[in-house]
Amino acid sequence: MNLSRFSLEGKVALVTGGSRGIGRAIALAFADAGANVAISGRKLPDLEAVAEELKQKGVKSLAVASHIARGEESKALVDRVKGEWGKIDILVNNAGTNPYAGPLLEAEEWAWDATMNVNLKGPFLLSQLVAGVMKEQGGGSIVNIASIMGIAPSELGFYSVTKAGLIMLTRVLAKEWGQYKIRVNAIAPGVVKTRLSEALWKDPVKSEVAAKSKALGYIGVPEDIAGTALFLASDASSYVTGEVIVVDGGELVGPAPDYGA
Ligand SMILES: NC(=O)c1ccc[n+]([C@@H]2O[C@H](COP(=O)([O-])OP(=O)(O)OC[C@H]3O[C@@H](n4cnc5c(N)ncnc54)[C@H](OP(=O)(O)O)[C@@H]3O)[C@@H](O)[C@H]2O)c1
Repeated sequence: MNLSRFSLEGKVALVTGGSRGIGRAIALAFADAGANVAISGRKLPDLEAVAEELKQKGVKSLAVASHIARGEESKALVDRVKGEWGKIDILVNNAGTNPYAGPLLEAEEWAWDATMNVNLKGPFLLSQLVAGVMKEQGGGSIVNIASIMGIAPSELGFYSVTKAGLIMLTRVLAKEWGQYKIRVNAIAPGVVKTRLSEALWKDPVKSEVAAKSKALGYIGVPEDIAGTALFLASDASSYVTGEVIVVDGGELVGPAPDYGA
């Protein structure tokens, strides 16, 4: 096989939530593969620090402050990246949030709106804007960062609902935009050690339970997600669309049975 199909040389990528965690790891992997990478998030200083790391890999980078749930900010983001580099080949909808963890019986309307807006409305609005650019240039690849919590219900109720929505959005957009050579896929990670999930992995008891619940026996790190994102972004996955790849260290399959040897 021609391994250059895994290369992103000459491509332009936009990664939302690129200032830390999974988004940062994906942005760095894309830079290693040769792409020029734009990253967005709300806090510019955090983004600028990562943009500097990206530049040190010999590619161009761009840090843009942009709230994913605000359509006008996403429009400015897309205009900025297109204005700078003339095209967008890859979009990773990675920015996500979970502002409420508790029983849905007591959940309030603001939490529903905040979770939906960031995890589902925002990725749709940005995808729509970027797809306009991709259609014009003859194609592209969109990768949505969902979660296994969007496949199996979790204790983070609203979060699960938004991620299930993002998985269906992936399939719906893949169906509609395949005619424009725009591929749309999702990654469904299990627990990954980032700020978003620190309530779990920083607690020694919960952390051990979480590690033991996976076939591979440990909690993932952001770099564990980056390789799959690179595959889906690159031409190596040119015939893959509407797909959801679970990257969870074997959490959904579960650990080996204990026969009490
Ligand atoms: N960590 C896990 O266990 C896990 C598991 C499955 C799926 N995921 C998914 O993976 C993605 C990345 O999560 P992570 O774990 O890497 O989280 P993280 O470390 O908390 O990073 C979140 C990123 O998103 C940005 N962000 C948050 N709210 C935003 C908003 N309203 N507008 C624009 N950017 C925003 C943050 O920057 P600012 O704060 O500066 O905006 C940051 O760059 C999320 O979609 C998450 O749901 C995570």
